Amino acid sequence: TPPDPFAARLLAWFDHSGRHDLPWQHPRTPYRVWLSEIMLQQTQVKTAAPYFERFVAALPTLEALAAAPLDDVLALWSGLGYYTRARNLHSAAQQCVKHHNSELPRDLDALVALPGIGRSTAAAILSQAWGDRHAILDGNVKRVLARYHGIAGWPGVPAVEKQLWACAESHLPHIRLADYTQAQMDLGATLCTRSNPSCVLCPLQADCIARIEGRTAELPTRKPG
Ligand code: ADE
Ligand code: SF4
Repeated sequence: TPPDPFAARLLAWFDHSGRHDLPWQHPRTPYRVWLSEIMLQQTQVKTAAPYFERFVAALPTLEALAAAPLDDVLALWSGLGYYTRARNLHSAAQQCVKHHNSELPRDLDALVALPGIGRSTAAAILSQAWGDRHAILDGNVKRVLARYHGIAGWPGVPAVEKQLWACAESHLPHIRLADYTQAQMDLGATLCTRSNPSCVLCPLQADCIARIEGRTAELPTRKPG
């Protein structure tokens, strides 16, 4: 099979146009990556950044988070919304203290077993914190892959989601996994946007089915009803 240009093109684009100055990238520790991924599940980067800085200043380690009163954690979360995220974060930290030597486990299934961490979030944590080789599939990546491969069908349908996971796995590079994870999120957030994607600037345009066939407006397929 010929080499797949997807990851190399995305990484080259990331070098000049990706986001390299996000607060959780410096320093990029497992605890900071985890916290950032939980915040970014339902909050934009721009909104989350100042909350992130305030949170890690008050609770700089997983052990500090586990030992903090829940009310302090909720107060640090105040304004971000979706407070279940803060409760789960606190509970997960306490489980890590109890069962994982006060560290975030470096294992996909062990991470998924913690409250608030799904498969894609676990993969995003492991790839960014350790450079481990795991595919992510959040909303941004689903949109990029549905368009690039021309996959129709609402991604909420299990069979469609399964296809998208297979695409995500198929493109995984063997190097620069942390950058690759961030690059996918950056492409989805900045160029391959929901409406009016900037295909002329996109590093994937040459082989993108949706662009070639003029179907970017209809992909990914919206939820029926
Ligand atoms: N959404 C989830 N994780 C993200 C990240 N690391 N950067 C930007 N958006 C994200
Ligand atoms: Fe998205 Fe357009 Fe790039 Fe295809 S060419 S991945 S639709 S921005």
